[in-house]
Amino acid sequence: MRNSSPSKPARGNIVIIGAQWGDEGKGKVIDVLTEDADVLIRYQGGHNAGHTVIVDGEEFVFHLIPSGLLHPGKVGLIGNGVVIDPEALLEEMTRLAKRGVNVAQAVKISDQAHVIFPYHKKLDLLEETTRAGRIGTTGRGIGPCYVDKAARCGIRMADLCDTRAFPGKLKQAVEEKNRLFKALYNEPPVNYDELLARYQGYADRLRPHVVHGGRFLRDAIAQGKRLLFEGAQGTMLDLDHGTYPYVTSSNATSGGACTGAGVAPTVIDRVIGVVKAYTTRVGEGPFPTEFPPQLMDVIRTKGREFGATTGRPRRCGWFDAVVARHAVWVNGCQSVAVTKLDVLDEMDTIQICIGYQEGAERTEDFPADTERLSRCKPVYESWPGWKAETGDAASFGDLPPAAQRYLKRLEELMGVPICLISTGSRREQAFKTSSW
Ligand code: GDP
Ligand code: IMO
Ligand code: MG
Repeated sequence: MRNSSPSKPARGNIVIIGAQWGDEGKGKVIDVLTEDADVLIRYQGGHNAGHTVIVDGEEFVFHLIPSGLLHPGKVGLIGNGVVIDPEALLEEMTRLAKRGVNVAQAVKISDQAHVIFPYHKKLDLLEETTRAGRIGTTGRGIGPCYVDKAARCGIRMADLCDTRAFPGKLKQAVEEKNRLFKALYNEPPVNYDELLARYQGYADRLRPHVVHGGRFLRDAIAQGKRLLFEGAQGTMLDLDHGTYPYVTSSNATSGGACTGAGVAPTVIDRVIGVVKAYTTRVGEGPFPTEFPPQLMDVIRTKGREFGATTGRPRRCGWFDAVVARHAVWVNGCQSVAVTKLDVLDEMDTIQICIGYQEGAERTEDFPADTERLSRCKPVYESWPGWKAETGDAASFGDLPPAAQRYLKRLEELMGVPICLISTGSRREQAFKTSSW
């Protein structure tokens, strides 16, 4: 982050959440804020997440490990609310180690986190092809793993690492899933012996990292360490508060930080929502401000809007203040970080969605009913573009006046101040505002 920003010391324990449909630039914001944190925590989701950090021209995409770990001396916890694919996690740890991170000390895993198995992934893909309306999942087995957790038949990290109990638990799970594959999908069974050997190998490698997550954080708090919680996905993909059923299977909102890390709400001092200066969405589901094809191409190319996990092209649209206001409320955001302002640098005019029109009715409230949302048409107001580069800005005052006015209008519509602005993908291309 640029030094000329009016940065004050970070206040306490901060939760960072996505305030749109994911990919808001949470990874970048976490990386920037990590200099003022000691322990970084992922609390929900799994390797469906893809959080990009660019340091010294090198890109790193985090999927399960908290995005601040390129900073030396920090510790990252994968909390109980996360679902872990051990193969994906080990691959990420190997990549981090190659960048010189002391993975042995830096990566901790909650023993209560649930484990993803290949049968979850297989079910995810089968369900996508058979359900009436596709969700467009990442195909990583996330939903089916959370289903097992809620059905109380999941296997947790503690089970995986328990040499004596694991074979029996896995056998029961595989037998049940094989009955399902045969009866519902006419699919060949999963091989228990092969899976057992493979996962026993993963357990041996992951065991040294496994801790009691809640206790680990309790000790960190007692030692005066500052916690930075990293939400994955975004509010509109939250299982309860998003555009259900076109959502992920966990609570991506700030409340998820408590249940997914094992801390009380009173531990959290501050919630910051992250929004792009426009909006994107990957996968299916309603998206009121989605661009027409030509504008879609322009912004997708300029913003490099392709999924960090699946490489799928992201759907792009104008900033939706109805969505952002909903997110501010649901998460209790005291302020918001705006990313990718630079992507709008060349626009003649910029639109902001300030409300929805459904037939004769106008609303500024986000409809809980997804069917209703898909009937809503956005009501726009137009703002002049600034037609100048913002990538080198080091303070709010450095931004072109039209960009300042655009951001002030977003603040007004969201009802909270903008505390951080990002104008490029590199670590240095961000500054805190006087509202920090
Ligand atoms: P996350 O899932 O919320 O962490 O976001 P992703 O990493 O999936 O997607 C954000 C993308 O935007 C990444 O490619 C980042 O490198 C990039 N990015 C982040 N902030 C900015 C910014 O201010 N400007 C530009 N141009 N790119 C940014
Ligand atoms: P980050 O953390 C954007 C979307 C998928 C799909 C829906 C359900 O990088 O912001 P799932 O595999 O979770 O069952 O898919 O959620 N999705 C994301 N979209 N960013 C993400 O993560 C996402 N993780 C899941 O595209 O629409
Ligand atoms: Mg992402």
